[in-house]
Amino acid sequence: MKAIQISHYTQDLDFQYTNIPKPQIKPNEILIKGKYAGVDPHLILAMTGKVKLFDHYDFPLTLGNELAGVVAEVGAAVSDFQVGDKVYTMPPLNTMGAFAEYLAVEAQYVAKMPENLSFQEAAAIPLSALTIRQAFDILRPLPDKRLFIPGGTGGFGQIAVPYAKALGLRVTVSGGPVARATATYLGADQFINYETTDYSDILQDYDYVIDTRGADEFKKELAILYFGGHLLSLNAGPNARFGQRHRASFSAGKRFIFRLAGSSFDRQAKKQGETYDFLYVAPSGQQLRELTPYFEQSQIKPVIDTVYPFDQAKTAIDRVKVGHNQGKILLDLEADLDTNS
Ligand SMILES: NC(=O)c1ccc[n+]([C@@H]2O[C@H](COP(=O)([O-])OP(=O)(O)OC[C@H]3O[C@@H](n4cnc5c(N)ncnc54)[C@H](OP(=O)(O)O)[C@@H]3O)[C@@H](O)[C@H]2O)c1
Repeated sequence: MKAIQISHYTQDLDFQYTNIPKPQIKPNEILIKGKYAGVDPHLILAMTGKVKLFDHYDFPLTLGNELAGVVAEVGAAVSDFQVGDKVYTMPPLNTMGAFAEYLAVEAQYVAKMPENLSFQEAAAIPLSALTIRQAFDILRPLPDKRLFIPGGTGGFGQIAVPYAKALGLRVTVSGGPVARATATYLGADQFINYETTDYSDILQDYDYVIDTRGADEFKKELAILYFGGHLLSLNAGPNARFGQRHRASFSAGKRFIFRLAGSSFDRQAKKQGETYDFLYVAPSGQQLRELTPYFEQSQIKPVIDTVYPFDQAKTAIDRVKVGHNQGKILLDLEADLDTNS
């Protein structure tokens, strides 16, 4: 079968189209015939080796963090899926595998697709939906409190904002000038154009910030929180609390590195009576299953920026690297499968 693989870390985001055997499933796995796969910023970090601290890869590695497709085979120990089910999944980040004709994945990471969504829409969901769900497991936000998501009109924000609104939060997002329409569609209460307005000049006493921008924004994000507020970052870096939450997954040595790396963030947050957390999303079919009814009832569907055929994955990945896409970038796993590309 055709697959998109890397055989080493690559700063140029080079990859190979390869022909590899169709996977043989284990008893606890299902085989999914992929329809569409999401192309997300984590891929860039994975390809360039920037998430080595979290994930060990066995090369060659088939890329791709999320997909929607149809169950083609079911392992002997799997009882809750049948051949022909429409499913969506985020496979484990250290094995990936979505950019291929077939994905073999443990059933525990898979859920049936929301019935009202197309394969394209469903493929845009898993990584972002799991991220906001896990972020809220940490923040435990209360209705009517105020949440700021800088960069909240991108692939993550378009899932996170309506979800936060459905839980009764008041949500402010920032984005470029053309993202105002996206923010309105998503139901954000306030939109800040980052080209013309510095959010730290106008926001104060927020309860929560979910940071998508990284360490450079840390001080400003802390400053707009009220005393006792909570900053959760998807980008700034791990800390002691992250290591503590994941003590079963990381060695004592790595947890020590997390503590050391995050000590400055923790010190600054503590000084202002605030809490800092870092999130690195984890796969979970159970959480996707719990989210499915929300997507079935929600009026908001994921916005798709562009769907690229399989043989144009380079363009898709380069576009995600540049950013400023309005909605999700997807790969059509069935279009133009050409291994000579
Ligand atoms: N740790 C984790 O588990 C985890 C999980 C999910 C996501 N993430 C990270 O979260 C980040 C966002 O993911 P995504 O999928 O939403 O990416 P994306 O689709 O590329 O969206 C990026 C967003 O940032 C905005 N932006 C760009 N420059 C900005 C600036 N200077 N100030 C404020 N906003 C700016 C973009 O707005 P315009 O397009 O209008 O310019 C867009 O809304 C990525 O870095 C990703 O790796 C991490």
